[in-house]
Amino acid sequence: MKGLQIVILSGSGISAPSGLSTFRDPDGIWIKYRIEEIATPEAFESNPARVLDFYNQRRLQLASVAPNPAHLAIAELEQHHHVQVITQNVDDLHERAGSSRVIHLHGKLTEARSSRDPSIVTDIGYGSILPGDCATDGSPLRPNVVWFGESIFHLDESEKLVAEADVVLVIGTSLSVHPAAGLVHNTSSVAAKYYVNIDTDDCPPGFHCVEGSADIVLPPLLKSLSK
Ligand code: APR
Repeated sequence: MKGLQIVILSGSGISAPSGLSTFRDPDGIWIKYRIEEIATPEAFESNPARVLDFYNQRRLQLASVAPNPAHLAIAELEQHHHVQVITQNVDDLHERAGSSRVIHLHGKLTEARSSRDPSIVTDIGYGSILPGDCATDGSPLRPNVVWFGESIFHLDESEKLVAEADVVLVIGTSLSVHPAAGLVHNTSSVAAKYYVNIDTDDCPPGFHCVEGSADIVLPPLLKSLSK
C-alpha cells in the first residue's frame, strides 16, 4: 500500500542497539543517576557543574555511536509514505539515519539554550557546555532538554499527527512518562497500531504486539507496510 500517513513514536529502546543506554532497563540511566540530581531545574540551580557534566558525557558518547537498522528502516520508509517521527529521545540518530520529519518532545542533546528565555537556542553539536558559559541574554547556558517538571515541546501538534495517522508504530518505549506516553490514546480507531519492544508486557490495548529488538524486528515489519 502506498502513500500512508505513518507516525513513529520512539523511545530510548530504539537507540539501545546503537549503544545508548535506556532509562529504566536494569542498566538504565535512572538506575545509575538520581533524577532529582540531574534532570530538574532545581538540580541545575543547585549544582550546574554536575548537571552540565552529565549531558556533556552523553553528548560525547552520542558522537561515537551510529544509527542502527531500526533508524535506517524508518528513514527508508519515506520513499513510499509520509513518515513523521515523534521521539522522546534527545539523540540525533533519527536525523543521522536520514529521517526528514522529526519532532523531539523532550528536546535535543545537540542544542543549548538560555536558562531565562527558551526561545534563545543554539546548536552545539557534540560540544560541551561549561559552568559559566552564558547565552546571548547573559543567563547561564543549559541543555535544550526538557527536565522533569517542565513542559514538553510540540504536544498539540503531535496529538493531531497521531490522530490523523493511518499507521502508528510505538517503538522502544516503556510509555511510563506523561504526557508523551498519552499520545497512544490519540490514535484513530481505524489506524493500524504496532508496539515494538523487547518486552511487550506494556503493549497498549488495540496494538499489535511485536516482540523483539527494534533493529531486528522493525525492518521486516516496515517492509511489509509497503507491499
Ligand atoms: N528494542 C526495542 N525495545 C527496547 C530495546 C530494543 N533493543 N531495548 C530496550 N527496549 C525497551 C524497553 O523494554 C523499555 O520498554 O525500551 C523501553 C525503554 O524504556 P525507558 O528506559 O523507560 O525509556 P523511555 O520510554 O524512552 O523513557 C521515556 O523518560 O526519563 C524520561 O526523558 C526520558 O524520554 C525519556 C522518557
